[in-house]
Amino acid sequence: MPAPHREVRVLAPAKINLILRVLDRRPDGYHNLWSLMQTVGLEDELRVRIRSGTAGVRLTCSIPDLPSDGRNLVVKAASLLLSHVARAIDVEIELTKRIPLGGGLGGGSSDAAATMIALNRLLDLGWPLGKLADISAGLGSDVPFFFSAPTAIVAGRGGDVTPVSLAGERWIVLIHPGFASDTKQAYQALSARRTGVRPLSPAHERIGPGTGLSWDDVILHMENDFEPALAPAYPIFTELKQALLNAGAEAAMLSGSGATVFGVFRDEPSAREGCRTLGRRPGCFSAAVPSGRRPIELQDV
Ligand code: C5P
Repeated sequence: MPAPHREVRVLAPAKINLILRVLDRRPDGYHNLWSLMQTVGLEDELRVRIRSGTAGVRLTCSIPDLPSDGRNLVVKAASLLLSHVARAIDVEIELTKRIPLGGGLGGGSSDAAATMIALNRLLDLGWPLGKLADISAGLGSDVPFFFSAPTAIVAGRGGDVTPVSLAGERWIVLIHPGFASDTKQAYQALSARRTGVRPLSPAHERIGPGTGLSWDDVILHMENDFEPALAPAYPIFTELKQALLNAGAEAAMLSGSGATVFGVFRDEPSAREGCRTLGRRPGCFSAAVPSGRRPIELQDV
């Protein structure tokens, strides 16, 4: 008789950067960041099953262009967590991708965080999310944020995460132009272009966990350092931003280091209408989704 298994289902949300400042270069070669990050209702789905007995991690993925071996962040996250647990566990993960790859939407990072949250439950570890976030930091700069979803300030290399509450709700239109942006090259473009590091503005410095932040405030202070750095090479980003503003967005900006451009809309009907207008562009992926309201959640299967 096969060993009994346990299974959970997790939805891993995409993120957008409402503010992204790239500050000084660190001794480890990475840059210090300061970002206000927010999840949105576009989600990958993971089903995670464990059996005790043999040890191993197996991933099947809904899209063939994503490696399902040790190069995949999901496999790395599961292996990393298991390396902290001295038990022989067989892990099987089914990943259904909906978040576009290379889109600055943190899909792979969210999948990694969701994998660790699932295993924490399945193995009855009871570890606090802060411990999972600390363990996850080596996987990638965006991973620790997802343990503090839906909204947080992310600083340092990505590991200093402070949850904040953002009052109100907005709808977000995501437009991905159909090509992936390379994060490393984006940092290189940014470094090549600038002569110094502009410090955080007083308005950004004032944003903190107790400051009563609202969407109205955030819209006034949205900014992404990658936008001017990438604009000369990718005029499509400026074009999509303008198209979102023309379609009624209150604000529009590049997410992360691209290639997704997002627009902030006041409500669902205006977002859906904006998405319909922009979705006609050939080769583009577009979606109208609500801003995230909850942390990553698990469901027993
Ligand atoms: O952490 P992640 O794998 O997403 O980073 C990809 C690349 O982006 C890094 O190799 C580094 O060149 C650059 N990066 C950086 N500073 C950060 C995050 C990323 O310079 N805080």
